[in-house]
Amino acid sequence: MRRKIVAGNWKMNKTPAEAKVLAAEIANALGAAPCPVEVVVCPPYIDLPAVTETLAGTQIGVGAQNMHNEPKGAFTGEIAASMLQEIGVKYVILGHSERRTYFADTDATVNAKTKAALAAGFTPIVCVGETLEERESGKTETVVTTQIRGSLADLGADIAKVVVAYEPVWAIGTGKTATPAQAQEVHALIRKTLAEMAGEETAQSIRIQYGGSMKPENAAELMAQPDIDGGLIGGAALKADSFLAIVKAGC
Ligand code: PGA
Repeated sequence: MRRKIVAGNWKMNKTPAEAKVLAAEIANALGAAPCPVEVVVCPPYIDLPAVTETLAGTQIGVGAQNMHNEPKGAFTGEIAASMLQEIGVKYVILGHSERRTYFADTDATVNAKTKAALAAGFTPIVCVGETLEERESGKTETVVTTQIRGSLADLGADIAKVVVAYEPVWAIGTGKTATPAQAQEVHALIRKTLAEMAGEETAQSIRIQYGGSMKPENAAELMAQPDIDGGLIGGAALKADSFLAIVKAGC
């Protein structure tokens, strides 16, 4: 049985003070009751100390939204794994489509970052997904399998520790969600690709999140699909009540 994982991607939202308030609201609303869903929040770098401090002792994990693959050095503006480790970060989103589009992340850089994240003991949340143009021209399968094979190349047994997020670019922040059937089809394709890369047993153990306008109204149906193991939530993760409603939909 794969444990569902719901992660909030706060993107470039919330100052440290605001982040502290949101993290506390989420922790209070989730309470101490054992939750079968693994819950993670991924605030901007500058908010991470406040959020890890606020969530210490709770069942909520904290992730970054990116990191550099090099351990240190002359990379102005970048953040290394050891810096994140020291403040209690356990997860890192890598290869989000916004990073691939605006900040030149490629399958090769995502692969290097994934290796560095695994070496640091983090759970990488590696994002893949096709654009609308790619979907409409029948390229979804090629695009997604190429991203999976490139971003997750040569990880050895550690591939089992990765969480994959399937995020169709046309569904991110647009209010357009993939239908449960559309999402399931790509999730099954991703799992088949993972099986070709790492064997059936390992592929069956890897969690694959859906992301792209997931909200309380559609979360339960999406997460009920056999290969959808949780969600990566943008807009709806910025309010404690909608984020928690999605978490509860996975219970
Ligand atoms: P959205 O973003 O939920 O606002 O569509 C998801 C994401 O980009 O991770």
